Amino acid sequence: QFSKPVLGIETSCDETGVALLRWEPAAPGRGLLSHALYSQIKLHADYGGVVPELASRDHVRKLLPLVREALAEAGLTPADLGGVAYTAGPGLVGALLVGASAARAMAWALGVPAIGVHHMEGHLLAPLLEEDPPEPPFVALLVSGGHSMLVEVQGIGRYRILGDTLDDAAGEAFDKTAKLMGLPYPGGPALAALAQQGRPGAFRFSRPMTDRPGLDFSFSGLKTQVLLAWQQSDQAEQTRADIARAFEEAIVDTLAIKCRRALQAAGAKRLVIAGGVGANKRLRAELAEAGEKEGFRVYFPRLAFCTDNGAMIALAGAIRLAAGQHQDESVQVFPRWDL
Ligand code: KG4
Ligand code: ZN
Repeated sequence: QFSKPVLGIETSCDETGVALLRWEPAAPGRGLLSHALYSQIKLHADYGGVVPELASRDHVRKLLPLVREALAEAGLTPADLGGVAYTAGPGLVGALLVGASAARAMAWALGVPAIGVHHMEGHLLAPLLEEDPPEPPFVALLVSGGHSMLVEVQGIGRYRILGDTLDDAAGEAFDKTAKLMGLPYPGGPALAALAQQGRPGAFRFSRPMTDRPGLDFSFSGLKTQVLLAWQQSDQAEQTRADIARAFEEAIVDTLAIKCRRALQAAGAKRLVIAGGVGANKRLRAELAEAGEKEGFRVYFPRLAFCTDNGAMIALAGAIRLAAGQHQDESVQVFPRWDL
């Protein structure tokens, strides 16, 4: 039985996340002892996107103070740890290396195992941190800055990809669309906030790839539709909000249609939404409502665990360590890595 706390470290992009979790199979959320996060959003804002070299350097600065903070909050010392989990990919290579090196070094010094975790598996399992977690089998919609995927989860570690994006990820589509209408980085949340002031029906964009069977996504055409609408408009503040609303509706509808299809294809009654775009209020509301009407149940992680965080990495790592998995001591990261 793997009963000692596991330290989880996330540094794949622009968020330094750390958490301590003791593996409790029946209720993983109860095993979460503490978590701490530092977001680099301000650091990258002037550049309109994440600057990889700046991200790596900032992870170096923030990681160990955050580990100390999480340990103090949990009332633990490093000697109490039973293992260290870190994001080994996919992500920015320099940023990943900061977390991987620190995790490997700490584990080696403490004489405990370390394990590299797939970032998307972390997102996928994040809903297990909540009360009343979903039991496999379930379908997961993974929608982040780098991914839009539908995954059938038959059990932990048993994943079947049902659909993927052919071009932009959902979060990327939000970010790029926001940028082309002049919204500040990071665009997704800014566009979603603006959409709340948009008037219904003022604009309408298509629901890409919903008119034919299949579970893949394509969002780059939607971005082009928005660009044309924006360039041909009066570019007034209200118009920007109206376009934001229509864009958000199009993307949310598209995701919802494919989620229903995936549930049918997998014969599942449980749907998990994870990844940064899972923080989107319209997506949450539309799917929760569809679930009530159509007899499936929707599970979301709390907002803080939708976007990148250390808790999901601690959880995915703790599960694998508890199952007796471990790896050799080399520091290896995988900037591109299939789930
Ligand atoms: O999972 P995440 O934190 O990082 C990645 O692994 O990519 O996801 C970040 C993405 C960004 O594209 C961001 O714009 C998007 O999630 N996002 C949102 C919202 N909050 C974050 N997109 C739409 N609505 C939101 N409320
Ligand atoms: Zn992520």
